[in-house]
Amino acid sequence: MDRYLVFGNPIAHSLSPEIHARFAASLGERISYERMLVPAGQFAAHAKRFFDGGGRGANVTLPFKVEAFELASRASERARLAGAANFLAARDGVIEADNTDGAGLVADLARNQGCMLQGARILLLGAGGAARGVVGPLLAQKPEWLVIANRTHARAAELAGAFASHGSVRACGLDDAPGDATVLVNATSTSIRGEALELREGVLHSDLFAYDMAYGAGAKAFLTRAKAAGARTADGLGMLVEQAAESYFLWRGRRPETGPVLAQLRALA
Ligand code: ATR
Repeated sequence: MDRYLVFGNPIAHSLSPEIHARFAASLGERISYERMLVPAGQFAAHAKRFFDGGGRGANVTLPFKVEAFELASRASERARLAGAANFLAARDGVIEADNTDGAGLVADLARNQGCMLQGARILLLGAGGAARGVVGPLLAQKPEWLVIANRTHARAAELAGAFASHGSVRACGLDDAPGDATVLVNATSTSIRGEALELREGVLHSDLFAYDMAYGAGAKAFLTRAKAAGARTADGLGMLVEQAAESYFLWRGRRPETGPVLAQLRALA
């Protein structure tokens, strides 16, 4: 049986094994997909051992996405732009890296949420690894503009600068976040960490679609605030399922349907 896994730390609560098991079942395929907890500093050794032992592919989650990118001998354009990989595959004896996070976000927004990105005014909160992974795919949708707002302005400026040739993108501090965005994506780590995110009055409003890349309980505080301001909202569960489907397709050449799996996971939550 072809072997896959997800590397991370922590990893116990990862839904990826369940998602991939459901994809495989829906396509009548048999795969093995497990979780692997990796201690800090040991990612490369674990990944090499897995692939040397015949592993076909791996997803990679926090905090190893940059190490995964650096480990690979080849990388896709979108992984290079992100400087990080959530996807590894063994092909022709070498390890290849890709990044399916941005495609997952775009697919969830556009397909599952009916959120139009072409011509949209997008406010991206955060400028860390999670934000970096989605800037390129968001700009590829041709929004009117994308503003990256971050607590530390310099990090947002660096990220916007890196993508200047990809579309209309600029940086600001959280205090200066625009109040006329139509789509907001929270890519800060505040939801995952349960920390407060200070936003100025007017950033959350009733003409906004507010998306949190975290899902479940973590995203609740932010999305409750956005809802109270009249915004439409969604958490990142759909992004998780969509990035997994893109991974499955890249590994196995068949694209699983995401709708039923997303509905099943929502029913379990
Ligand atoms: P990740 O890989 O999850 O993006 P990261 O690289 O540590 O993690 O980045 C975390 C992001 O969340 C950063 O944009 C960070 O802002 P700073 O660059 O100013 O540190 C943002 N962030 C974390 N805690 C925050 C808080 N309490 N309020 C606002 N932004 C916060």
